[in-house]
Parts: sequence; structure tokens; C-alpha cells
Amino acid sequence: MSDLLPQIDKERLPRHIAIIMDGNGRWAKEQGQDRLFGHYHGVESVRDIVEGCAELGIGYLTLYAFSTENWDRPQYEVVGLMELLVSTIRNEVESLQKNNIRLHVIGDLTMLPEYARKELGEALEITKNNTGLNLIMALSYSGRWELLNAVKNIAWEVKNGKLNVDEIDQNTLQHYLCTSGFPDPELMIRTSGEYRISNFLLYQLAYAELYFTNVRWPDFRKHNLYEALIDYQNRERRFGKTSEQLAPVQ
Ligand code: IPE
Ligand code: IPE
Ligand code: MG
Repeated sequence: MSDLLPQIDKERLPRHIAIIMDGNGRWAKEQGQDRLFGHYHGVESVRDIVEGCAELGIGYLTLYAFSTENWDRPQYEVVGLMELLVSTIRNEVESLQKNNIRLHVIGDLTMLPEYARKELGEALEITKNNTGLNLIMALSYSGRWELLNAVKNIAWEVKNGKLNVDEIDQNTLQHYLCTSGFPDPELMIRTSGEYRISNFLLYQLAYAELYFTNVRWPDFRKHNLYEALIDYQNRERRFGKTSEQLAPVQ
């Protein structure tokens, strides 16, 4: 057992953790290997972190697995990633079931090859009644795509007389995002030393605590997650208020 685990306050865990799993390519290159080698090893980290979140009783874990912009990578890498996605889902669905984990997918799934859509659809169906951790895979996802999509759908509803412009509020907008039904992430982790959001959950991260680590994704394990959680628990989340306002009344 990790010595960090007892330091985590189980009463103050985030409900939702979002992770930008970055650094697979560099991890592989550092070992003189092909980028795909890094992606394959990244799956082991996914397994460990999903297990860690489930053990802690985290409600939602969103993993950024493939961005809209990643379609522009070399063809062999895109194809390799799609094949890895399909084989991983096929191999892991049994363990998701066993651990009561429900799979969700957010992103422009119309971009995915048919065989990948089919495999995902089956896994979503198989796990749909699970009540433990909600594992949300962001695939062919970007925040700008999501917001554009929401705006278009809202415009259609207005045009068809189903929505009144004066009634549009933040709840309406939230309803048209692909994360409707999930709480906003309180903690966003990015691995591999990049300090940017890269088009991830642009709307939902408004008040998330951001945690950056130099650890490459294939090396990221439960104890790294615990470090992030301890760091998170030492922050003061003010939401625009002052510290004094947050202090409990004496
Ligand atoms: C993250 O690792 C995985 C995906 C984006 C699919 P990268 O492939 O971006 O690895 P680096 O950032 O090039 O090292
Ligand atoms: C973000 O990583 C996307 C995923 C981890 C899936 P990238 O490696 O694509 O981001 P940039 O290009 O460094 O911003
Ligand atoms: Mg990267």
C-alpha cells in the first residue's frame, strides 16, 4: 500500500477528476522506440488509475484519449491508436463489469471508423446499468467542437419553436454539452510537463484546480494520483469569494 494513501482525506475527495494523458510519444522516444510503443504502455496507466479511482470511490473520471486535432497526426499513428482503442475495450469490458464501472464516451464519434464505433457501442450497452465509477472517455473530442455543436443544436431548437431565446440560461447550455449529466471536474491533471489545456473541457474546467506533473503518462501510477489529490486538498477553492468569506462562522 502506498504511504500516501492515509494522507488523503476521504471526506474531501473531488467528485470528478479529468486527466490529459500526455507524453506517450516522448516516453517511447526516450527509449528509442516507436511512438505506438508509448501508447501501448499508456494503457497500463489507464488500468491502474481507473482502479485507483474506483478504490477511492471517485464518482467520475474523464480521460482525454484522442483530440479532434489528433486526427492530423501521421496516418499510421491514428490507425494504431484506433486499433489499440478497440482491443483495449474488448479486453477490459469484463473487468469494467466486475468492478461495477460504467463507460461513457464524449466526442465526435461520427469521425471514428465503423469498427471502433461498434465496439464502443457494445461496451456502453454492456456497462450501462453499473452504478460505481463513471469512466468517461473523451475520443475525437475538443472543447471548441463541443461548444459549436451545442450552439448549433440550440439554434435549431429556437428555429423550430422549441426554445425561447429569453429562456436560455447556463442550465440550457449545460444541457447541450456532451457532459450534461456529469458534474464539472474539480481537479484536472495533465502529465508530461505541458502547461496547457489543449482544447479539453473548455467550459467545464472554469473552476477546476489544475495540477501539472512532469511524469510521462506511461509512468503515471496510483501514487502519482495520490500526490495530485493531496495537492488538491491543500488548495483553497474560493470561487471568486475572499478567504474570510470561506472561513467557518465562529
Ligand atoms: C498522449 O501522448 C496520447 C495522445 C495524444 C493520443 P502523446 O502522443 O501526445 O505523446 P507526446 O506528447 O508526443 O509525448
Ligand atoms: C492532448 O495532447 C490530447 C490528448 C492527450 C488526447 P496533445 O499531445 O495532442 O496536445 P498538444 O498538441 O501537446 O497541445
Ligand atoms: Mg502530446
